[in-house]
Amino acid sequence: MCGIFAYLNFCVPKKRKEILDKLIKGLQRLEYRGYDSAGIGVDGGNDIEKSEQPTILIKKRGKVINLQEEIQGREDLNFDLEFDTHLGIAHTRWATHGVPNNVNSHPQRSDTNNDFVVVHNGIITNYKDIKKFLIGKGFEFESDTDTEVIAKLLKYMYDTRESDSITFRELVEGTVQQLEGAFAVVFKSTKYPGQAVASRRGSPLLIGIASKSKLSTDHIPILYSKEPSKKLLGANKEKGNKIGNNQEALNTANSTSSFQPANGDGQVEYFFASDASAIIEHTNRVIFMEDDDVAAVTDGCLSLHRIRRSVDESSTRQVQTLQMELQQIMRGNYSTFMQKEIFEQPESVVNTMRGRINFDANTVHLGGLKQHINELKRCRRLIFIACGTSYHSAMATRQLMEELTELPVMVELASDFLDRKTPIFRDDVCFFISQSGETADTLMALRYCKGRGALTVGITNVVGSSISRETDCGVHINAGPEIGVASTKAYTSQFIALVMFGLMMCEDRISMQQRRADIIKGLKELPDKIKDVLKLDEEVHSLAQELYQQKSVLIMGRGYNFATCLEGALKVKELTYMHSEGILAGELKHGPLALVDKAMPIIMIIMKDGTYTKCQNALQQVVARMGRPILLCEQGDTMSQKEAHRVMELPGIVDCLSGILTVIPLQLLSFHIAVLKGCDVDCPRNLAKSVTVE
Ligand code: F6R
Repeated sequence: MCGIFAYLNFCVPKKRKEILDKLIKGLQRLEYRGYDSAGIGVDGGNDIEKSEQPTILIKKRGKVINLQEEIQGREDLNFDLEFDTHLGIAHTRWATHGVPNNVNSHPQRSDTNNDFVVVHNGIITNYKDIKKFLIGKGFEFESDTDTEVIAKLLKYMYDTRESDSITFRELVEGTVQQLEGAFAVVFKSTKYPGQAVASRRGSPLLIGIASKSKLSTDHIPILYSKEPSKKLLGANKEKGNKIGNNQEALNTANSTSSFQPANGDGQVEYFFASDASAIIEHTNRVIFMEDDDVAAVTDGCLSLHRIRRSVDESSTRQVQTLQMELQQIMRGNYSTFMQKEIFEQPESVVNTMRGRINFDANTVHLGGLKQHINELKRCRRLIFIACGTSYHSAMATRQLMEELTELPVMVELASDFLDRKTPIFRDDVCFFISQSGETADTLMALRYCKGRGALTVGITNVVGSSISRETDCGVHINAGPEIGVASTKAYTSQFIALVMFGLMMCEDRISMQQRRADIIKGLKELPDKIKDVLKLDEEVHSLAQELYQQKSVLIMGRGYNFATCLEGALKVKELTYMHSEGILAGELKHGPLALVDKAMPIIMIIMKDGTYTKCQNALQQVVARMGRPILLCEQGDTMSQKEAHRVMELPGIVDCLSGILTVIPLQLLSFHIAVLKGCDVDCPRNLAKSVTVE
C-alpha cells in the first residue's frame, strides 16, 4: 500500500547516478506494496548553501522500471555531479485518491518551485477540509490526491512563520498535527537542504543508519514538545499556540540528545523506508518509528520527537539489529518471488517450529506467550481476527482449536468485526493474524479489542511491525520475508503457529495425550511431505494448461479442508483474474449444484478424515450431474479416483494438518495459470501486499 524510500548521505560524497540507483533499488524492493506509479525527488544542484536550486521531480505511471527508463533517458541530468550531502526521496504508489498518472504520483509538491515535497503512504481523511482551507488562502491544486494537501499545508506553515529561525522539523510537527487518517511521510525542502524530516501515524516507517564508526548509543532519547499546535480546522480540542508561529512552544532538539556516529568524521547515511527489505543491503541497524514520532536529520544528526508524553510510553527508541539476510529477499533461480516462496515451504515450516517443539518429549514451548499462559488458559473465548489469506489460516485451524482448547472459537474478518462493533470482554483472548503486521483493518480491530481490555495476541511474520508491537504477546511465524503479493508460505506458517498454540493449551490434559502425540508426529513429517507434494508441479502445470482459458473454477471440500478451498479460490482469483469460488461440500445441494455441468471445472478435495463419507456423497452428486471432478485425494484412494476426470494424489497425514498439504497444489495451479495467461505473478493488478488503508 505505497512504498516509501529515502536516502540521505551526510559528508559521504556520492555522484547523482549512485543516489538515483539507490533510490530505484529501494523502490524495487518495495514495489510489492504498490505499482501504479513511481517517483523520486532529488536536488537540482550540489551547492548546499544555494537554496534556490529547485528539487528535481521525476514521476512516471506504471512500475518502477518505467521510472528507471525515464531517468536513464533524461539527458538534462548530470549523472556525474557529486553531492557531499544530499537527501533523495522516492515512492511507489498504490492509488487510493486519483487515478494512476504522472501528476498523481508522488512526490507531491507545495508549489511550482518544488519548495517542499513529500512522499506519503496512507490516507488523509480530512484532506477535503484542508484543501478548502488552502484554496481559501490562494493555493492552487494540480493533482487529485489527498497527499498534495500535506505539501501545500507545510508551505503555508512556512509562509506564515513568525520567525526565520523556525526549523524544518517544527514546521512538519505543526503540519502533521493538522492531519487526520493514516500516514507515513518523508519531507524534503529546498529551504532546508540536506535535511530530512519524517513522521508516521498508522502506516509503517523505519530508519536505517549506516556509519563506519560505532554508534554512540543504542537508545535515542525522545525529545518532547511543550504544547500541541492549534487545530487549523474544526474544533480545537487542544489548548495551544496558533499554527505558523508555534516555534516557541516546541522544544528544539539539542545535539547531545540526537544520534551522531561516535568518534567519526561525521560521515553517516540514513535511510527511511516502509519496510526493512529496502534497506537491508545497506545496513542492519534500524529504528522502528512509533505512531506520532517525528524524526529529523539536521547536520547529520538524527533526533526523535513527540508532541507530548503519555503515561507508560518509552522515552527512547532503540536502534535494533535486523536478523534478515539479503539473500532472503532475492529471487535466486526462480522466475518469480511467489514461485520461490511456494518452493521454500519445506524450510519455512521448519523455521516456524524451530526451537519450539520438542519432538521427543511431545512438548511445545512458545516463548512469546509464556508470561500470559495463565490468562490464556482461563479465558472465556478465543477470537481470531484477520483478513484474506491470514483469515483463512484461522479458518483452517478453528476445528482443531475447538477440540484442543474446548473453548468457543470465533473467526472474524477484521473489517466485518469492526463494522458490527462486536462485543468484546476483558476475559476474551483476541488473536490478530497478519503476515505484514500492518494491515489497517486488523490493526484497528486490535486497538478496538485492547480498548475493551481483552488480552491481545499477535501472529505475525514481520518483526517490529505495528501488530507485533501493539499486541500484549505473540508468536512470530519466522517464515522469512514474503515478497510475492499473493501470500503462500506465510499461510502454512500461520497454520502451524496456530496448531502449536492449540497444542500448548492442552499440554496438561491426560485425555489429549495421544492426539497431541499424533499431531506432533505429523508436524515432524511435514517438511518431507511438503517436498513430495511439490513434486506434483509438472502435473499441476499440465492441469493449468487444461484450465487457463476457462472463465471459472469451483473448489470444493469440507471439514479441515474447507479453508483450503477458500484459500485456493482466493489465489486463483487474485493471480489469474479468473472467477473462482471455494465451496463447502455440505452446501453443494443448497445452491452451488446448479453450477455443475460437464463444462464447469470442479476441483474436489477428499482426504481420508472424518468427512470422507460425506465427501463421497458430494462426489456422487457432481458426477450424477455430468460434472468432471478434478480430484485432490490421498495416495491409494481408489474409491474416489474411479469417478474422477483427473487425479492428484497427496501423501496422507494426520487429519488436522492435511490442509497444509492440500493448499500447495492450488498455490502451484494459480501460479501456472497466471504464467500461461501472461499475468504479472508477483504484482497482480489492483493489489498491493501490505494493505495499510481501511
Ligand atoms: C492474498 C493475500 C491477502 C492478505 C491480506 C492480509 O494472497 O495476501 O489476502 O492475506 O491482505 O494481509 P496480512 O496477512 O499482511 O494482514
